[in-house]
Amino acid sequence: MFVRTYTGAVAGIGAVGVTVEVSITGGGTGLFLVGLPDNAVKESEQRIRSAYENSGFRMTQRKCVVNLAPADLRKEGSGFDLPIAVAILAAMQQVMPESLDEVAFVGELSLNGEVRAVKGVLPITAEAREQGFKRIYVPEENAAEAAVVEGIEVVPVVSLQQVASLLNGQLEIEAATAEPPAEQQQSEYAEDFADVKGQMHVKRALEIAAAGGHNVIMIGPPGSGKTMLARRIPSILPPMTPEEALETTKIHSVAGKLGTHRGLMKCRPFRAPHHLASPVALIGGGQNPQPGEVSLAHNGVLFLDEMPEFGHSVLEVLRQPLEDKHISIARARYAVDYPSNFTLVASMNPCPCGYYNHPTKECTCSAAAVHRYMGRISGPLMDRIDLHVEVTPVSREEMSSEQAAESSAEVRSRVMAARQVQAERFRGTGVHTNTMMTSAMLRRFCPLSVEARTLLDRAMERLQLSARAYDRIIKVARTIADLEGAADIAPAHISEAIGYRSLDRDNWGR
Ligand SMILES: Nc1ncnc2c1ncn2[C@@H]1O[C@H](COP(=O)(O)OP(=O)(O)O)[C@@H](O)[C@H]1O
Ligand SMILES: [Mg+2]
Repeated sequence: MFVRTYTGAVAGIGAVGVTVEVSITGGGTGLFLVGLPDNAVKESEQRIRSAYENSGFRMTQRKCVVNLAPADLRKEGSGFDLPIAVAILAAMQQVMPESLDEVAFVGELSLNGEVRAVKGVLPITAEAREQGFKRIYVPEENAAEAAVVEGIEVVPVVSLQQVASLLNGQLEIEAATAEPPAEQQQSEYAEDFADVKGQMHVKRALEIAAAGGHNVIMIGPPGSGKTMLARRIPSILPPMTPEEALETTKIHSVAGKLGTHRGLMKCRPFRAPHHLASPVALIGGGQNPQPGEVSLAHNGVLFLDEMPEFGHSVLEVLRQPLEDKHISIARARYAVDYPSNFTLVASMNPCPCGYYNHPTKECTCSAAAVHRYMGRISGPLMDRIDLHVEVTPVSREEMSSEQAAESSAEVRSRVMAARQVQAERFRGTGVHTNTMMTSAMLRRFCPLSVEARTLLDRAMERLQLSARAYDRIIKVARTIADLEGAADIAPAHISEAIGYRSLDRDNWGR
């Protein structure tokens, strides 16, 4: 008897359809798995045998060949268990083969026949819908993410026994549905800018960063609130568009980082990798390719807390995703591409002891040590950071003040207005924010008055700013003007933007 079932294999953040073919024939015994399966798939045989016994089915005593097609596609992971097990049951006529028409399956089997969660169920479901399947059986824990896909019925299942009963029409369960819109509209962010006392100029800088998509570094002593401020940046970014939310959710699904029973992500991601994270953890890759932190941060924030503590090699690998907004990983066995369009937010102490430039505490570092500390961050990386913000601790009076600070929602409404201006400016160019402007766009959209240019030229000279700072200042000034609703860049916008280049000055630490 020959039977087919359908499933999918994750590729990048998408999936490709996979057909499971099972043929049970006379002439020998045993289960043979062919079609380029990796080790996890090969182990599937053991899981399926055990799951059968413990679900009250008997494995065929005849020869059973399982082929995963297309044969040249590398298959990995344990999500093929369920489609293989179902195909064998159908070939043994323990489920009705006609019940397999127009349906797909994905899921791992435990030894006692339970269906377990796997990675990448969202893209696999999306691909099944593309291929015209009417229904997909998925692990119950992955049902919420699968239900994000419209136009295909998602059946949450818990055991092989249950799947057999469903297919044989002895049982019916309700299809999973996407979360109700009411839940989606709840304010998502637990942390709000209103929690941060004072720090008006830092909040201002972060608002500019959010408005123009600028990468930002905060520099200040321990305890001054850098981490606290950074964690709140996603709450002032515009909400994700449905496309952004879907793409970000797919990445987290493929990485197995979505969590069970989770549907479409509503919050922009905030990723704060540890400084001991490996280059692979950061940019992705590995034996079975996985998205790294730069992709998990897609459409959100990648926060490098205490940036100088990150190893040199780790910081260097950040350059490609920062520049290209996606990351290509090519190895001997595979090539994948993951999106990685994030806002980089970094923090650092100003010196090894942390108290350089502190209003009340004494810094114990030599001038040379302060200078060296800054040098740990390479020029090319600093080059991609538009805003430098100095953070000093708020005073005791400010800390105990009862005055309510502005909420994230209020800041976000200004950010969204500025983004709207940029959307109109860059319509049809593929650029969305001021930070992404090419030099041609800079010339076109950022003409400077004689007064503004003179101001900028003088500052370049007086503060010994590098040539690379020049474009950065103009881009930031453009964002400041956009926040104000001003069509032209005024000298005041330029001078505020110059204020965010303090780390460029060669005299830092002298
Ligand atoms: N401006 C502030 N408003 C309210 N709390 C603050 C502020 N600055 C610092 N804190 C408190 O101090 C703690 C330490 O701040 P943190 O963000 O960890 O500092 P840093 O990262 O600069 O070392 C915060 O968790 C918060 O409780
Ligand atoms: Mg901190």
